[in-house]
Amino acid sequence: MLSARDNDTLTRVGPGTPMGDLMRQYWIPACLSSELEADGEPMRLLLLGEQLIAFRDTAGRIGIMEHRCPHRCASLFFGRNEENGLRCVYHGWKFDVEGNCLDMPNVPPSQDFKSKVKAKAYKVVERGGFVWTYMGPRAVAPPLPEIEALMLPEAENGIRVHQRECNWMQSLEGDIDTSHFGFLHIGGVDADDVDPDTIHRWSVVDRAPDYKARETEWGTMYCAYREAEPGTYYYRFAHFLLPFFTFTPNGSFKDQVQCTINVPMDDTHTMTYNCGWTKRTPPLQTMKTGEPIPGLVPDMKYLPRTNDWYGRWRLEARRGNDYFVDREMQRHVNYTGIQGIGRQDQAAVECMGEIVDRSLEHLAPSDRMIMITRRRLVNAARELQEQKKVPATVDGAHIYRLARGGAFIAPMNVDWLDAYAKNLREATSPLGMLIAQAAE
Ligand code: FES
Ligand SMILES: [Fe+2]
Repeated sequence: MLSARDNDTLTRVGPGTPMGDLMRQYWIPACLSSELEADGEPMRLLLLGEQLIAFRDTAGRIGIMEHRCPHRCASLFFGRNEENGLRCVYHGWKFDVEGNCLDMPNVPPSQDFKSKVKAKAYKVVERGGFVWTYMGPRAVAPPLPEIEALMLPEAENGIRVHQRECNWMQSLEGDIDTSHFGFLHIGGVDADDVDPDTIHRWSVVDRAPDYKARETEWGTMYCAYREAEPGTYYYRFAHFLLPFFTFTPNGSFKDQVQCTINVPMDDTHTMTYNCGWTKRTPPLQTMKTGEPIPGLVPDMKYLPRTNDWYGRWRLEARRGNDYFVDREMQRHVNYTGIQGIGRQDQAAVECMGEIVDRSLEHLAPSDRMIMITRRRLVNAARELQEQKKVPATVDGAHIYRLARGGAFIAPMNVDWLDAYAKNLREATSPLGMLIAQAAE
């Protein structure tokens, strides 16, 4: 459980809030590169509670700026995206991607003061299929995070996006809540049903493992472990990386180049990005017959895109239709009666309400990762607010290279962190980025 004050610190991300200020220290994934075309329509973009407009100019550069025109506050959503700038349709003022006012056609040249006017615009960089923006206080932005799954060539990265109608931390806690996997997703699968040759069968054999969890320089990490063959443990490692990244345990540690991002749109809406190297070993998804595990096949249809602040990447299965829960399916086919891992997760994190009241919880030992991650975030936000202390990952972007999620088998007599370090040394890294001497 969490006090109301801590819950507020954890969940509120608007300008001037402790968590909002913490997130603004970092580069933030704003949208996908593919969402903006040169001289195309300006796009409404909600980030950390700020109403922004994103557009790509004639030369291909991207602008992300406050949606209100600095003249008399008409929305630049209606702007004309033309000849390397966005022209407000109210009185014709025109701005480039950096917010400079290029033209002020409704005043005589002698009274023109365009050099003194600037639209509030944020720095933008494109990398790996993402448009990143820096909304923070520095004149020179810090480096982009060195997270391999967010640096892969686009052709080798499977990126999925969907919006969640709940607070960002609720969504993120779903990623680090490992004990739900054996219930929400594969609760209907018997140990005898899965391939006896996959190491992941241990997650079905024993659904109540032990856990280790600790704070790290990049955030927090945990492993769930249970006995596998005699003398060995089946480990599942995962991470939280400041400020809103996670690496899940669901896959093979050796090549699981993967990252989930929960970017707050505002306090009650989250844009969730799942990224993964297309060449990684698939996680447990089939029965021993080769058939897909019942109810796990993804079914992520989107509602038509609209220009609304909340109009992008909305899923058809949603709170209002109970995620198409099918009670017959729940009786006979899978645990939830809800189709697909993504939809099952969506239902679990949204059904708590927009911002869950964490004072109502009864946390268990299986929630230790969630507890330490909340504490890590609340402390980081308060240290910034009270002592102006910035987390090491803001300037030390390489620190993220110490983290890798996934499952492996290791001897019982090896310490969990030593087993992690050994497996990290042997892991595949498509861009050669892992730092092997991790977990010291
Ligand atoms: S309000 Fe934009 S030019 Fe006047
Ligand atoms: Fe899940």
